[in-house]
Amino acid sequence: MLHLVPWLRTAILWVMGRVFLQTGGLLLVMLLAAPFAFYAAGFGQDGLRGTLDGPHYLLSENGPANAGIFSHMLLGALITLLVPLQLIRPLRARLPALHRWTGRLVTLAAGITALGGLAYIALRGTIGGAVMDAGFTLYGALMLLAAVQTYRHARARRLDQHNAWALRLFWLVLGSWLYRVHYGLWYLTTGGLWSTPAFTGAFDLVQNFAFYLPYLIGVEIYLRRRFSSPGRRAKLPA
Ligand code: HEM
Repeated sequence: MLHLVPWLRTAILWVMGRVFLQTGGLLLVMLLAAPFAFYAAGFGQDGLRGTLDGPHYLLSENGPANAGIFSHMLLGALITLLVPLQLIRPLRARLPALHRWTGRLVTLAAGITALGGLAYIALRGTIGGAVMDAGFTLYGALMLLAAVQTYRHARARRLDQHNAWALRLFWLVLGSWLYRVHYGLWYLTTGGLWSTPAFTGAFDLVQNFAFYLPYLIGVEIYLRRRFSSPGRRAKLPA
């Protein structure tokens, strides 16, 4: 290291710093989202086993709707925990087989999670009515699309497109946790202004889309900027 020209040493230290920060950030996200993942896993298991404490509005006589909503919670918990691991660069470089197997599991589970949620909306509808139905249906459809595209491009070795769709999938999977984070912070700061128990307040209506759309827009801006540099223009994701 000491014999390297100063600019090369600075560049190497800068890259190492970025990788270190990125890995630390992803592990922190995993840690912060873990309580929600365990809550969702417990809820899903109890629902599937029929051991929920007392009656719950999500549980009904409709067997397929119950299977959809409770299995989506269980698999949703799994992907919430696993998806940050997929973005950790040193792990991908050192353990490519782990990345591939976890990737297959995450994309399959994300697809089933989305289908479970979509089935529940189609069979019973959400507590918040038409706007919530629309927001969550779009969310499920986008997650299904991102899961399929992430897997498809990986299989075809189109790595730029795979990475772009994996990033979209990452933010979509974290969306369910971010939904609770938004609510938590809002209630903490405003005491629940513009939010009702039936999810019909102005804040609730915005939240139906705000837990994933702004993050996806951020991803698109990031991808356009990253791929618009002259050397990479040809590899712009489809
Ligand atoms: C990303 C992983 C996901 C996790 C961990 C997750 C977890 C949960 C949990 C725990 C609930 C129960 C609500 C509560 O009392 O807190 C719930 C409700 C629900 N989720 Fe998900 N979810 C995920 C993704 C999705 C997706 C992709 C859809 C797509 C359609 C979806 C649709 C729904 C619906 C419709 C409800 C019921 C809303 C209502 O109260 O009427 N979820 N989810």
